Amino acid sequence: MTGKTILCGARIATQADEQTPYGLIDDGTLVMSGERIEWVGSKNDLPDEYSAIDAEDLDGRLVTPGLIDCHTHVIFGGDRAQEFEMRLNGAGYEEIARAGGGINSTVRATRDASLEQLIESAMPRVDALIAEGLTTIEIKSGYGLERETELNMLRAAREIGKQRPITVLTTYLGAHATPPEYKDRDDAYIEEVVIPTLHAAHSEGLVDAVDGFCEGIAFQSKQIARVFDAAKALNLPVKLHAEQLSNLGGAKLAASYDALSADHIEYLDEDGVVAMALAGTTGVILPGAFYTLRETQQPPVDLLRNHQVPMALATDCNPGSSPLTSLLLTMNMGCTLFRMTPEETLAGVTRNAARALGLKDRGVIAAGQRADLAIWDVKHPAELSYRIGFNPLHKRIFGGQA
Ligand code: NIG
Ligand code: FE
Repeated sequence: MTGKTILCGARIATQADEQTPYGLIDDGTLVMSGERIEWVGSKNDLPDEYSAIDAEDLDGRLVTPGLIDCHTHVIFGGDRAQEFEMRLNGAGYEEIARAGGGINSTVRATRDASLEQLIESAMPRVDALIAEGLTTIEIKSGYGLERETELNMLRAAREIGKQRPITVLTTYLGAHATPPEYKDRDDAYIEEVVIPTLHAAHSEGLVDAVDGFCEGIAFQSKQIARVFDAAKALNLPVKLHAEQLSNLGGAKLAASYDALSADHIEYLDEDGVVAMALAGTTGVILPGAFYTLRETQQPPVDLLRNHQVPMALATDCNPGSSPLTSLLLTMNMGCTLFRMTPEETLAGVTRNAARALGLKDRGVIAAGQRADLAIWDVKHPAELSYRIGFNPLHKRIFGGQA
């Protein structure tokens, strides 16, 4: 039998069987064929047909699905270390944004960067995530806020997917903020820039999903709805930065468009949770932004659990509110800051992150799924969330290739 690889002697957190914690298989064996998983189970059940193939013994190491970061802004120009200092001296995040800093300060630096510079400056961030077992990443635009730079950000994201062994999904975030040239003319910005640029990006094949920022310092529901209507007309899925700093009913609006996810959601109320549950919208929890902005309003994790809304977890890597390039630290923060369980945080960066991206071929370890795996020097999956600032990755496998 050729083209097959077998891993044995592994503890496999399949995430596939909801009855067993982590879907854990002790003394597990996994057969890969090309890009896919062909068989997974306990050693004793391995079909005879595979017995002649040499297996790699993992010596009791833990295997999880490759990690998925389902919400990032890794592509941007410049940095915002000065704003970090300003906030430590008492300035507020919204105050800085209203004074022309915040997102718009990154917009200036991003407009000044070439396509090559955008790729080059994002790569160390992407590589830091890969070093911790990342195999799929979502990357948003949203720091161009004019046609050519928005397109360049999305082109850079596609290029990163070619230069590294990872899957990149792109999200168009033209409705991230109103740029200075449209100050106080939000509606005109949506009509004249956001929607025409969406069409241009879509016809270049650059858009996998459409996002917006529904907030006092960004856009109102009506404006987001306008963008979502345009996305739906192109058959593109939507998602939303919702209820981060206040409750404008963004998650409910997103759910009414069958959104893949509503993200941040610290101020989400039960009404919004119910709407998400009915629509099958995933809640994406972003502890890096909560931590960086020293927020105190916690996302309603209990309500999400009670209504069985799947919870994903992501870095939100961006220069302003979450300069975070570690999914392991994100998992630790999910537990310590929000009392998520280690089982929930692992599902949050695997199974539920795949769901937040609308991907059905990854995020769990099962026959037929992509062979995107992370192999860890740990015995128990809770260790991944428990340690702080330590990377126990032994090996990463992307599409069956180490
Ligand atoms: O997800 N909330 C809006 N957008 C980003 C932050 C943008 C920025 O401050 O640069 C976020 O937190
Ligand atoms: Fe974000």
